[in-house]
Amino acid sequence: MTLIILVVTGILVRQIFLPDEFGANGYYRPGALEEEANREARNMAAESCLECHPLIRKLHVAGIHKTISCEACHGAFADHVKDNLVVGLMPVARGQGIRPLCLRCHNKVVRAAPPDSIKVVDIPEHMDKRKVRTDHICNQCHHVHAPLKWVHEAREMMGLAKREEDI
Ligand code: HEC
Ligand code: HEC
Ligand code: HEC
Ligand code: HEC
Repeated sequence: MTLIILVVTGILVRQIFLPDEFGANGYYRPGALEEEANREARNMAAESCLECHPLIRKLHVAGIHKTISCEACHGAFADHVKDNLVVGLMPVARGQGIRPLCLRCHNKVVRAAPPDSIKVVDIPEHMDKRKVRTDHICNQCHHVHAPLKWVHEAREMMGLAKREEDI
């Protein structure tokens, strides 16, 4: 008896909740394709930030991080701008919060990228080599939007050879 009630309720629930168009062309809902295709874009190219953030963008495109999208560090465009108006603030890592952001891609210990694709550091070793305390934050030496800019400027000031790379 319980089994019969379960089966009947099962069929009824299926009837109520299954979208009408399901099964028309096979085991899926045809309308889903159109819905996905028309979903509003949440992410944009770095070009979309140019108009309102020209100075940061200028640094960014001249620097070694030029291949990284602004959104990789700041989240989705759609949460910040809609119809050319600012609708919300983007997350910005500050202070000690900058380290985990940089280490997402540059951590020697845990890394998602294949070996040799991105240069990685081990924090104690990296700081030790520069004779500073381990709790130094990356942006005390690396400009977040052009990581080698200050390093090159310092080298130049000290009359050391410039590296081939960009800022
Ligand atoms: C339509 C103009 C416009 C566009 C396009 C735009 N921004 Fe902004 N953005 C602003 C303004 C204005 C502020 C300052 C908001 C405030 O302080 O109230 C701001 C602030 C920010 C901040 C600082 C937020 C904070 O909490 O301090 C970040 C980071 C940022 N934008 C990143 C971006 C990125 C990345 C893009 C592209 C994906 C972008 N913005 C595109 C206008 C824009
Ligand atoms: C590698 C990560 C990274 C990328 C890529 C990146 N940013 Fe940032 N951005 C940061 C961090 C970290 C800060 C906070 C720096 C600080 O407080 O010293 C910041 C700060 C900002 C601010 C706020 C400035 C301020 O001092 O209040 C704006 C605006 C901004 N970024 C826009 C952009 C735009 C536009 C792009 C792309 C052209 C971009 N960022 C790419 C990491 C990044
Ligand atoms: C989304 C991944 C990503 C994040 C997050 C990121 N980087 Fe990078 N970084 C890269 C890539 C990729 C390159 C190499 C670009 C190339 O070689 O063309 C690079 C290059 C560098 C270099 C130059 C390495 C060299 O000598 O060639 C430094 C320094 C650097 N990043 C520091 C930082 C700092 C500091 C932060 C945090 C503010 C940070 N990165 C966040 C991906 C990232
Ligand atoms: C005390 C200054 C200082 C601090 C703090 C610092 N760096 Fe560096 N970093 C340097 C210098 C100097 C270089 C060498 C650049 C060169 O050779 O041109 C470098 C090189 C790098 C490189 C390239 C390594 C390679 O193999 O060529 C990466 C990646 C990097 N740093 C990431 C970071 C990250 C991530 C942080 C924060 C956890 C950080 N750095 C903190 C000074 C610093």
